[in-house]
Amino acid sequence: MSKPFYITTPIYYVNDRPHIGHTYTTVLADVIARFHRMRGEQVYFLTGTDEHGQKVEKAAAARGITPKQLADEVVANYTELWKAMTMTHFRFIRTTDADHKEQVQRLFKRLVDKGDIYKATYKGLYSVSDEAYVTETQAKELQAQGLAHQLIELEEETYFFRLSAYQDRLLKLYEEHPEFVQPDFRFNEVKRFVEGGLQDLSISRTSISWGIPVPGDEKHVIYVWFDALLNYLTGCPANCWPPDLQIVGKDILRFHAVYWPAFLMAAGMFLPETILAHGWWLMGEDKMSKSKGNVVRPDTLLRFGNDALRFYFMRDMQVGHDRGFSYEGFMDRLNADLANGLGNLASRTLSMIQRYRGGLVPMPTVMDELDQAMATQLLAVFPEYLEQARANNFHGALDVLWAYLRTLDGYIVKAEPWKLAKDPANDPKLDAVLAILYRALRATALLVAPVMPELAQTLWEGLGHSTKVAETTFHGFALDGPAIGPIGESKPLFQRIDKEKEMSELLAPETPADAKPSLDVPEIRETVEADTFFKVDLRVGRILEAERVPKSDKLIKMKVDIGLEQRTIVGGIGKAYEPAELVNRLVVVVANLAPRKLMGIESHGMLLAASDNASKPYLIAPPADAMPGFLVK
Ligand code: MSP
Repeated sequence: MSKPFYITTPIYYVNDRPHIGHTYTTVLADVIARFHRMRGEQVYFLTGTDEHGQKVEKAAAARGITPKQLADEVVANYTELWKAMTMTHFRFIRTTDADHKEQVQRLFKRLVDKGDIYKATYKGLYSVSDEAYVTETQAKELQAQGLAHQLIELEEETYFFRLSAYQDRLLKLYEEHPEFVQPDFRFNEVKRFVEGGLQDLSISRTSISWGIPVPGDEKHVIYVWFDALLNYLTGCPANCWPPDLQIVGKDILRFHAVYWPAFLMAAGMFLPETILAHGWWLMGEDKMSKSKGNVVRPDTLLRFGNDALRFYFMRDMQVGHDRGFSYEGFMDRLNADLANGLGNLASRTLSMIQRYRGGLVPMPTVMDELDQAMATQLLAVFPEYLEQARANNFHGALDVLWAYLRTLDGYIVKAEPWKLAKDPANDPKLDAVLAILYRALRATALLVAPVMPELAQTLWEGLGHSTKVAETTFHGFALDGPAIGPIGESKPLFQRIDKEKEMSELLAPETPADAKPSLDVPEIRETVEADTFFKVDLRVGRILEAERVPKSDKLIKMKVDIGLEQRTIVGGIGKAYEPAELVNRLVVVVANLAPRKLMGIESHGMLLAASDNASKPYLIAPPADAMPGFLVK
């Protein structure tokens, strides 16, 4: 028997509840899994959660609970959501599962024995949010983005994975297997990264305790990415290896297309066939993030139905590219394609078959040119859809199908079946029209079943079937086969959304029941002695001039009078303030801050501002009668 098609999603961090980004990844995998089942293949589908590491440890500490308690809570969120969304995974793996822990330690030890893992000292900058050491260039990028606070300096004894030894083999893999990373443009990024040279990878930590201990050296815990990637091995039954398709977001492609195959090469195992990297759902142009307060949760969208959300994801996102999310766009898409498009076509067709043919679907005896054209188009659309879907391009597949459904609307308008029905002499023509519409809908139900399982089943039953559409396979399906009739009462496929009404509710801000006040601020920083604080020289200043820094929407260049001298200060306040409203303002300046260059301009000092992570910066203003040069203490 051939090997089951093995498909995986990334495993999700348990520091937060799922948002639509995570949901999208899993829907994509589930749609592909269902599609392969309907191709007659055995499918093994794995998803789960990534529970170790500093991120989770910190999130739990902030809540005053243990990491495991946090994980259990978030896992419940995930499993309930996946159930509501009819995901068809076989196992939900948790990295805290006993068999996983064993697996990770076993492999770690094997690689130590083999010499691919060795111990040494590491010193460098570490990004807490990425759970990874960063290079100098990456550190500079983060600093420029105002994210320097995410970096900490670490010096530790650590175990290294001999990644550098795998550079050539990785490049050979990319050369020989152009299908290894999809889409192509992402593959090129990966190749360039590896061509740039690989350093050995630090894969243990002594600075954290929440993780799987290094066997035999328990003060080290195994690096969360080494631990996490191996879930695909732990969760794989003996007959399924290697993975056929691993879905990941673009942000974690490097881990999957560089580190992961290198680990497997070291372990002497077969490599996955394809890593498919999708893009991101954005809010406008921005990343979705809790600190920006712009996160969209699937629960909010599921009130329109599971199928609606699944369809929207597949229809609107071209795999590989980013896509802006908007509630309006979401509702427009559903109204246009499901309430109007398919819903309307199905209800018109089924009610005509009821009305004109007593629920019995006719077999066509003659077809004119127009009927023939519609029938021929269906013969082309069906395999084209399957081909696109086979290439994991559901966006393209659905596009082809919906274009055809629109043509059918035009066909009805031209054929005017309601007029044909008035004269029995037109019976053969009416038979042809009804039969073609019926066949098109039947094919549609089958094709969209992986994307919209419930809606497809409703349509399938509406067309007279008592079987499960998901258990029907694509091959051998006769597009022009006779109807399975008679058809019953037809149910509406999709309720039109009242956009105005829903908008006002959807846009209400998120207030989770367990939320602390919506203030999004870091914990109080570590204690400093008064002496340390007084080293900072704070002065009242007055802004004399302000202008935007060209090519930056964030930076404003200012001339500031601080009493004793005038300073050039560049501040990242351009999204919150217009230059004109800054002139003449009194501000508080950090006067003895070392000068630094921002976009080529030397900035000498900094303005104090208050904000939480989610809101704009509010410049701190001394009272109106304070004088530039006053010391703030
Ligand atoms: N735990 C790691 C993965 C380890 S796999 C061995 C991780 N977890 S995550 O929870 O942060 O992200 C999981 C997936 O969600 C990633 O594929 C990521 O790309 C995806 N998304 C997170 N936000 C997203 C969007 N806004 N849009 C689309 N997907 C995004 O990374």
